[in-house]
Amino acid sequence: MIDPQQTVGDLVLDHPECAAVLQRHRIDYCCGGNQTLAGACLKRGLDVGPLAAALEQAVRERGGDEMDARTLSSPALIAHIVVRYHTPLRKTLPFVRTLGAKVARVHGGHNPRLVELDRVIAELADTLEAHIDDEEATLFPTLERREPQPAAAGRLSKTTRDEHEMVGGFVNRMRAASDDYTVPDWACNSYRVLFRELEHLETDVLRHVHLENHVLLPRFAGAAR
Ligand SMILES: [Fe+2]
Ligand SMILES: [Fe+2]
Repeated sequence: MIDPQQTVGDLVLDHPECAAVLQRHRIDYCCGGNQTLAGACLKRGLDVGPLAAALEQAVRERGGDEMDARTLSSPALIAHIVVRYHTPLRKTLPFVRTLGAKVARVHGGHNPRLVELDRVIAELADTLEAHIDDEEATLFPTLERREPQPAAAGRLSKTTRDEHEMVGGFVNRMRAASDDYTVPDWACNSYRVLFRELEHLETDVLRHVHLENHVLLPRFAGAAR
């Protein structure tokens, strides 16, 4: 069923339910979407057999409520991205930023990595907030034109992909500083809520970037891959 020579980006396009399994194994299907499953396993020191089995199980258990974004027109896809990802981010980012600062202030003495986590959350929030504003102000209107200018679409696509790489780097640092979102026994409620929110945030960021990198941007002639 699962072909180890398929790229992980294509795998998630065919089977969105594989995204969560790849995320759990820290395989990047967004900016690293062009690597094959076998190649990604090699890089992470993972055995491809058990991972392919876990992916096949996820496909079998598929709930059926995941829509195929490839079937949407570009304006509909853009509207979906704004409603499903951009709008919630404008609430989530200020919330986790405040909570991250509070948890670092109260528990940073007990766990110094919380201070680094707070810093990464602030950098991620600054970058993502500016990024989604730019997409809505410039990239999306350019792509929604009846005849997008290939040069403009290409230039904006390149900038967008570069910013996605940056966001991906912050997400990796966030996961490392939170020890894979592991909550210690002594953690208070704020600590627990923060880690749960960050894990949700990571899931949404990966899916969001994946849609833009692998479904939206490749549709435009002249857009850099
Ligand atoms: Fe976006
Ligand atoms: Fe984006």
